[in-house]
Amino acid sequence: MTWHIARVAGSELDIGEVLAIYRSSGLGERRPVADAERMAAMIRNANLIVTCRVAGEMVGIARSISDFSYVTYLSDIAVSRPFQREGIGRALIDATRKEAPQAKIVLLSAPAATGYYPHIGFSRHDSAWVLNP
Ligand SMILES: CC(C)(COP(=O)(O)OP(=O)(O)OC[C@H]1O[C@@H](n2cnc3c(N)ncnc32)[C@H](O)[C@@H]1OP(=O)(O)O)[C@@H](O)C(=O)NCCC(=O)NCCS
Repeated sequence: MTWHIARVAGSELDIGEVLAIYRSSGLGERRPVADAERMAAMIRNANLIVTCRVAGEMVGIARSISDFSYVTYLSDIAVSRPFQREGIGRALIDATRKEAPQAKIVLLSAPAATGYYPHIGFSRHDSAWVLNP
């Protein structure tokens, strides 16, 4: 399968296409996909987004906040179910790293992906803290 990964500006993405990925990956169960305005703000205000397309169709997205120097917070990564386990998730993370090569990547894993990150080279951090709004 041939795919194309590119950095994109969040403000230029079609929110309907993005919502479809969140839903079809399963990540939509853990993100506010019913609130399109809020999702649009999440996409618009992220400063490092890479998408994957196959034959023009968006099949994956990685959405991060980066200072491009020290740390990149990977907020969401999602691959449409029919395209999972083909290497696209790994390629999206590689593309994210290439955009900010000096920065380490930090993320909070969804329960379904806790086995994924150690498998692709992430190390576990035992001091993650969340302050809810
Ligand atoms: C998690 C997710 C992004 C991974 O992307 P993907 O394209 O399916 O994964 P890749 O093909 O890059 O997988 C790379 C390797 O990890 C393995 N892997 C994939 N998903 C895994 C999982 N959930 N648990 C353990 N290993 C996993 C693959 O088998 C592959 O192994 P290999 O290199 O030995 O062949 C994708 O499955 C997804 O969108 N899941 C639903 C949404 C989600 O949970 N996102 C994470 C939010 S934190």
